[in-house]
Amino acid sequence: MSNYETILVEKRGGIAVLTINRPDKLNALNSKVHAEGVTALDELRTDDEVRVVVITGAGEKSFVAGADISEFAGQTAVTQRNSFLEKTLFNSIDTFPKPVIAMINGFCLGGGCELALACDIRMASEKARLGQPEINLGIIPGGGGTQRLTRLVGEGKSMEMILSGEMIDAPTALNLGLVNHVFAPEELEAKTMEMANKIAEKAPVALQMAKEAVKLASRSNLDEGMRREVDLFAICFSTEDKEEGVAAFLEKRKPIFKGK
Ligand code: COA
Repeated sequence: MSNYETILVEKRGGIAVLTINRPDKLNALNSKVHAEGVTALDELRTDDEVRVVVITGAGEKSFVAGADISEFAGQTAVTQRNSFLEKTLFNSIDTFPKPVIAMINGFCLGGGCELALACDIRMASEKARLGQPEINLGIIPGGGGTQRLTRLVGEGKSMEMILSGEMIDAPTALNLGLVNHVFAPEELEAKTMEMANKIAEKAPVALQMAKEAVKLASRSNLDEGMRREVDLFAICFSTEDKEEGVAAFLEKRKPIFKGK
């Protein structure tokens, strides 16, 4: 992998762990993190060894404490709009074809919460604090927060988080469905890797089709979603892995998927 200044990328078997590495700034997302993250995900996208990506933050304290607020100072409406319409980490994760898991080890605020929301599954530490505090700066979420959070937890709870700017703790986030699981801090990594490895064993094409189909549920009407699901389901029938999966079931053995 390339060398980066603001992120670390480590491959552990079929799992790539992408760590946002600015712990002294609580891993705030500056333009360099976005640019390097986008480049890294572009590499991981075409790396056949990588089946699942885990995204986390460096250090004990923070996943990502939001956009780097120092970059907002003096920013005009047009430059800010363009930078968020261009290649961002949020968009790269959203269009990434393989499963992406957020491992939320601490503060998960603003753009950090939006980053986690762009991921497919969110695993959190009991220490995690989540929120959309942009309102405290006189702005609103701009990396998908108003849309993805609302789709995930419903309008009332999303409104409360976005209008109040208050942080919530991990059990509350679990209760809302904002995170999938909460673990003791010392267990978070092992449990996240367990989940990642479980998913990495599945057929890659089926994983990609499944992701696309599930995402359609909040982006299309029911008829369109049902129609597209059948197409994506049918694409799985063009793979060798589907033959392997069916044969393994009938032969009462574990399938070995090749990603073909
Ligand atoms: N952008 C830029 N720098 C940030 C940052 C952000 N979003 N969040 C934290 N930092 C920096 C702090 O400025 C500080 O840097 P310094 O040591 O050079 O002064 C460092 O990270 C540590 O943060 P600090 O505020 O001292 O830690 P804390 O434990 O007292 O508070 C938070 C933690 C998360 C409550 C606090 O940092 C915070 O409110 N951050 C901003 C969260 C936010 O509004 N995010 C949305 C942005 S749109």
